[in-house]
Amino acid sequence: MLKGKVIALGITGGIAAYKGAEIASRLKKLGADVHCVMTQSATEFITPLTLRTLTSNPVTVSMFQEPKIWNVEHIGLADAIDAYLVAPATANIIGKVANGIADDFLSTTIMATKSPVIFAPAMNVNMLENSIYQENVEKLKKHGYMFIEPAEGMLACGYTGKGKLEEPEKIVNQLIGILQVEKDLMGKKVLVTAGPTMEKIDPVRYITNHSSGKMGYSIAEEAARRGAEVTLVSGKTNLTAPAGVKVINIESALEMYEKVVENYEDSDIVIKSAAVADYRPKKAADQKIKKKDGDMQILLERNPDILAYLGENKGNKILVGFAAETDDIKENAYKKVNKKNLDFIVANDILEAGAGFKGDTNKVNLYFSDGHEVNLPLMSKKEVAQKIIDEILQLIKK
Ligand SMILES: Cc1cc2nc3c(=O)[nH]c(=O)nc-3n(C[C@H](O)[C@H](O)[C@H](O)COP(=O)(O)O)c2cc1C
Repeated sequence: MLKGKVIALGITGGIAAYKGAEIASRLKKLGADVHCVMTQSATEFITPLTLRTLTSNPVTVSMFQEPKIWNVEHIGLADAIDAYLVAPATANIIGKVANGIADDFLSTTIMATKSPVIFAPAMNVNMLENSIYQENVEKLKKHGYMFIEPAEGMLACGYTGKGKLEEPEKIVNQLIGILQVEKDLMGKKVLVTAGPTMEKIDPVRYITNHSSGKMGYSIAEEAARRGAEVTLVSGKTNLTAPAGVKVINIESALEMYEKVVENYEDSDIVIKSAAVADYRPKKAADQKIKKKDGDMQILLERNPDILAYLGENKGNKILVGFAAETDDIKENAYKKVNKKNLDFIVANDILEAGAGFKGDTNKVNLYFSDGHEVNLPLMSKKEVAQKIIDEILQLIKK
């Protein structure tokens, strides 16, 4: 499965370093040519001999040791690899790379490679929650570095919480997924909308909804990963812009309408996953509305129907909508597909456990304009994003 792939495996000085040996062994068994790089601290936990024996390749620790295989030293390794996996990754190596420090063979080769770098961190939960560590991770993600999130559980330090190295089998599977990504959306322009809109009542109050934006951000990330040029029009979220995606931030449905229309003509594929308010206050007050005795009413007026506009001006574009329903899902979904001229709609029952707005998972059904449907099981929003892109590719092929 990994035959012909050259993988650098960086191992740093954490208690989970011994699991690095299992990762090396699994990669080798799957056919990869594995080259281990250890930090000096890592050698306190396991020996280079173990890794050398498991991989049948020399192990590099020092920047200045006699090169055994990489005749142009660090640059040779950095150029040759298909991916650089760092597992376990300490807070220290993440901090170093995030700040451009290259003071040993591992950090230098990470900085010198143009291949994907994937960190699988493992550390004490307090280190993981440290805001400096979190900032470093966000910064690295922005620069395209990837992360395999640590798991929760009993940590070697005696704490219970997040920070355990993900299981070696899962780490290897995720690496395989990354290496096997086909750039099948190369040359396509994709427009994605995500997140909630905010409809102003007065300078301090607004009407919004529970959308986290996670579904739309996952779709934008997946489309970019598969080679598309992606524009993401996003309402206010707490999410970091996916690597390589152009993000246009908006607040209200009117602003969303404007930006989507502006970018529509130039797009080949449009995926509307934002939760756009149907109504807005007819008049937003300039001053904070003062409390009075008795009830008050806010008169609402219709926002423009963005999806309807896109459907009317569809041309050859692929147009995908989203529906968050609480009842008669299929019937309502098909009504929307027909009325809005969509290629398909992604419908979720927001009352179902694990589906809908806030979480990391979703359970959706896809209803197509030709009448067929695809019912997906509960899965992560990243996996749903992959399925949506796969279905779009099927439509392009037709
Ligand atoms: C027993 C022990 C276990 C450690 N485990 C971790 C760990 O799991 N994660 C981590 O980030 N640091 C851990 N450290 C601290 C690192 O070893 C230390 O920050 C070191 O400078 C990391 O160097 P490196 O990133 O070059 O390997 C541990 C230290 C000791 C003594």
